[in-house]
Amino acid sequence: MSTRVAGKVAVVIGGASGIGWATAQLLASEGATVVIGDIDVDGGRSRAVELGRGAEAVCVDVVDEESVRTVFEETRARLGRVDIAVNCAGLNLPGFITELDADTWRRTVDICLTGGFFVIKHAARAMEAGGAIVSITSLNARQAAAGFAGYCSAKAGLAMLTEVAALELGERGIRVNAVSPGLVETPLVEGLTSVPVIQADFTENTPLGRNGSPRDVAEAVLYLASDASSWTTGEVLDVNGGAHLRRYPDVMKHLGALS
Ligand SMILES: NC(=O)c1ccc[n+]([C@@H]2O[C@H](COP(=O)([O-])OP(=O)(O)OC[C@H]3O[C@@H](n4cnc5c(N)ncnc54)[C@H](O)[C@@H]3O)[C@@H](O)[C@H]2O)c1
Repeated sequence: MSTRVAGKVAVVIGGASGIGWATAQLLASEGATVVIGDIDVDGGRSRAVELGRGAEAVCVDVVDEESVRTVFEETRARLGRVDIAVNCAGLNLPGFITELDADTWRRTVDICLTGGFFVIKHAARAMEAGGAIVSITSLNARQAAAGFAGYCSAKAGLAMLTEVAALELGERGIRVNAVSPGLVETPLVEGLTSVPVIQADFTENTPLGRNGSPRDVAEAVLYLASDASSWTTGEVLDVNGGAHLRRYPDVMKHLGALS
């Protein structure tokens, strides 16, 4: 067993599925004690059982500041420390700006941006001896996509929040970074990868010619969470097969053509 995060306590928010689950598995296999925080508490619990190695699961809704505060405070109280926090919670509720209602906009921004703020705030408060915080932004933080106004804006905001937090928390030995994935095969994007014309457009616009796996992203999170990146903070790392070098597919146009 390798031990890149041996002895560390890691909280993975959104750890019951997709990128968060792959991250929880990798951190645990590298020696961390993992706490999975997810709104899907049943999913989180069965993942924790699967992980073993002292893993735990707690219910957390990132839009509810009190539940985010509680997961970090209780983890510190129970396990004595919090060294690593990873925020993988996110969703995309699409809609063109002229049609998008305020509640839909707010829901996306609340989960993807305000939730990220709560996680960074309360993770940092719980990290008494320094630590590493990693958020998951998106290719859409830097590449605009028609119909994804809330998601693109929230993820761009999360990228800037990462930089501000790195500035504020550096003197406490807390590093704050983000990973920015392209299309990764998880339940979140099944509606895209299952449509051949959309999948083909993504592949054509990805120099390495394939979708990412959750493990591809988890490896980057592990790097930013471990001491291997001890002089890196305020970084938003593209992990997308080079897709940021081309253009984002017009997903809504493809979907419109099919309907
Ligand atoms: N899959 C992709 O192609 C892709 C690309 C770029 C960025 N991302 C981002 O990566 C992150 C993980 O996405 P994924 O693809 O693994 O999705 P996923 O749906 O597989 O996993 C998301 C997890 O977050 C949890 N979650 C959702 N809302 C929550 C809330 N309010 N509070 C707590 N937990 C909540 C879900 O229950 C789920 O376990 C998201 O932030 C997403 O925006 C994904």
